[in-house]
Amino acid sequence: MAKKNNDFFIEKKAWSVVKDELLGCYFKPYVSKILHTYKPLVYVDCFAGKGKFEDGNLGSPLIALDIISKCQASTKIESTSIEAVFIDLNYADDLHENLKAFPWVKIISGKYEDNIGSVLRGKNGYNVFLYIDPYGIKALQCSMFDGFAKGRFNSIELLINMNSFGFIREACHAMGTCFEDKEIFDDLVEYESTKMDASDKSIKELNYIAGGEYWQSIIASYKKHEINGYEAESQFAEQYCMRLMESYTYVLNMPLRIKKGQRPKYRLIHATNHRDGCLLMVDNIRKRWDLLQDIQTGGQMQLFTETPENEIIDEDDIRQKTIEHFSQCKNWTSLHDALAIFFIKHGPICATGDVKKILLQLQKEGSLGIMRNPDATTYGTPTKFMSENNKQTVSVRWQK
Ligand SMILES: C[S@@+](CC[C@H](N)C(=O)[O-])C[C@H]1O[C@@H](n2cnc3c(N)ncnc32)[C@H](O)[C@@H]1O
Repeated sequence: MAKKNNDFFIEKKAWSVVKDELLGCYFKPYVSKILHTYKPLVYVDCFAGKGKFEDGNLGSPLIALDIISKCQASTKIESTSIEAVFIDLNYADDLHENLKAFPWVKIISGKYEDNIGSVLRGKNGYNVFLYIDPYGIKALQCSMFDGFAKGRFNSIELLINMNSFGFIREACHAMGTCFEDKEIFDDLVEYESTKMDASDKSIKELNYIAGGEYWQSIIASYKKHEINGYEAESQFAEQYCMRLMESYTYVLNMPLRIKKGQRPKYRLIHATNHRDGCLLMVDNIRKRWDLLQDIQTGGQMQLFTETPENEIIDEDDIRQKTIEHFSQCKNWTSLHDALAIFFIKHGPICATGDVKKILLQLQKEGSLGIMRNPDATTYGTPTKFMSENNKQTVSVRWQK
């Protein structure tokens, strides 16, 4: 269902609640962690909107600013340097009004594509966080994301909301076919959705967004009825993430549903070159999963725990996947490195702590070696930690 841009901010819909909830639940631990790098942070909301919905609900700008203020108030770190930039093509005036309690922020009226370069210029050594929440897909050009990864930042993380079904539908139009699974869009309210026609220009534009031509063979299979619309979307999302992995080592692909029992309708993609950022994302997604399901189900009881792809979580399956993955560690391997790759492969199917528990069990069974540094406390007792930071490391090696 297509709607006018202006309607979006009248009332905050369940879908926006889910997206902003995920931003908030990740951004809070992210800011607390990043302050400990003692490097400045620049947060950029690239499609910021109005800051606030007309029903009084907070939009992504105020959610982020609230978190920044609370983190700054509670940290023991003496000097924190955080810049926040909000870009919107249509609503800079609303942003000025709604963010006036934060006079230190920068508001840019214009397109993200035209302004992000100058925002990031001169930010060498910064931690950079980009929240990318457009209506359509046009602005999601992969080559721009490649460019950000080349910046000389201390770290960079992207959180991208992608209307991947919107991409598939327009890719069908560009390749002269029709997207038949129209029911997918029944409750996916779209604002200013991107429109493509059957032309070379559209094909080029989609290549530019996808960062390659791989999407064309997916649409060709869809056209031949070899795969359905859901499979086409899932294959596209997977390959899009693989493409992003040319620039970012850790790319998490999180399918999101609007209602329980439905197939995923949207993708949240988290890209970073920092494994701990990836692990933090996994744990926060898992922690908030119940709450998100409440939003999605209207608070109905859940009998089983489901993964983001609607699969029922099976503990045996997680154990099996853990064994398959960690049995590849023939040499001593950093626990966090191995964990991050596990979740990139399987998505956020469980919390990092669940895999760690299985690893400890495998150690007891004699299948896995675990080496800690330091291996003893100052009192001489063996250490038991299962997480890594700048003071301690954990390595694992398959024993059989
Ligand atoms: C999905 S809304 C963002 C909602 C916001 N994240 C929130 O939670 O309140 C997308 C916003 O992008 C803006 N926009 C559209 N095209 C843009 C562009 N090329 N660059 C920057 N902003 C754009 C629209 O005006 C709209 O406010």
